[in-house]
Amino acid sequence: MRAVPARGATIAAAALALGALLGVAHAVATASPAAAVGYRGAGSIPGVPDPRRAWADWALDCQGCHRVDGGGSPRTAPAIAGEVAKYLQVAGGRAYLGRIPGIASSPLSDARLAELVNWMLFRFDRRDVPANFRPYTAVEIGRLRAHPLRLQAAALRRELQRRIRARERSGAR
Ligand code: HEC
Repeated sequence: MRAVPARGATIAAAALALGALLGVAHAVATASPAAAVGYRGAGSIPGVPDPRRAWADWALDCQGCHRVDGGGSPRTAPAIAGEVAKYLQVAGGRAYLGRIPGIASSPLSDARLAELVNWMLFRFDRRDVPANFRPYTAVEIGRLRAHPLRLQAAALRRELQRRIRARERSGAR
């Protein structure tokens, strides 16, 4: 007889823990984009109609490799936190972001992927987004992902990283 209430209590505790987790996830989903708000005083992230949907897409499609905080991991994927928008500052970087395998081969539609990429830039590296940034559109993402990088990805990445570091050394912002 004692096992039944004990199990009930365990289930209740698990449900509470799950509820807390979902609460945290919800807070992250809503708070993180909010933290990225402020781009030229705008009330939302440009090119992101639904930040919560973008966050959920990130969670399902990307964070398994790139980690919840964009910190990456040496075994799975590069860190994008504090880095990713730097690609927008160098020639070829904007196209690169639409053609890397993880993005180009995502199951998301062009529109959802454009939203996710725009969201990612502000969520993980708002500081480096150029002032004249034009959000990716579904059409642009569709065009880029139609030519996914394969074997060239690593070499192109090295070259873009070289441009980014050269730009940083020159003191440009
Ligand atoms: C299977 C693991 C994996 C998944 C899933 C994945 N990525 Fe990646 N991502 C990588 C790897 C590895 C690279 C390095 C480039 C390459 O070799 O493809 C990368 C590169 C990137 C880069 C460029 C960073 C750099 O410095 O080169 C961005 C931005 C990015 N991924 C975003 C995303 C987004 C957004 C998603 C979800 C739609 C995603 N990734 C899904 C593994 C992954």
